[in-house]
Amino acid sequence: MTDDVAVITQTLEQVAERVGDPMTLVFQRLFREMPEVEPLFVQDKDALVRGQMFQVTVESLLDFLGDRSYGASLVQIERMNHQGLGVETKIFDRFYLILMDTFRDILGTDWTPETDAVWTRVVRELTGIG
Ligand code: HEM
Repeated sequence: MTDDVAVITQTLEQVAERVGDPMTLVFQRLFREMPEVEPLFVQDKDALVRGQMFQVTVESLLDFLGDRSYGASLVQIERMNHQGLGVETKIFDRFYLILMDTFRDILGTDWTPETDAVWTRVVRELTGIG
């Protein structure tokens, strides 16, 4: 678990070194892969909601690694909140895959087999997909 946190944290640092804030790239990929969700963000002209969502996605990933008891975790809470917004769990969970794929593209050869193994396993454990 500690190693997982270290690898994920290192990825986040490397991504920040390369591109600064990757939020725009993550949402570009989301809207390319799932154009049907883009209209949900039309009100978000200043990207504040997207920024907050991106930040909480990362926090919830780290929260999941820290506390796999799951029941009370941030991921679980946001999953339920999003059902209320009309975002089904399957769609919600895909955001973690989109995050991972965006980071993989950004890091290129710095995305090592170890990085890939940890991210793939963690995202699979969190979402059951991938
Ligand atoms: C493709 C998957 C997802 C879609 C389509 C989606 C959609 C949305 C939408 C439409 C809103 C704005 C709600 C509003 O207008 O009040 C929102 C807000 C938010 N989402 Fe997501 N979401 C997704 C995945 C996630 C994930 C994985 C997380 C992290 C756990 C997350 C965290 C948040 C947070 C924290 C907000 C509130 C931001 C704020 O209003 O301050 N979302 N989401």
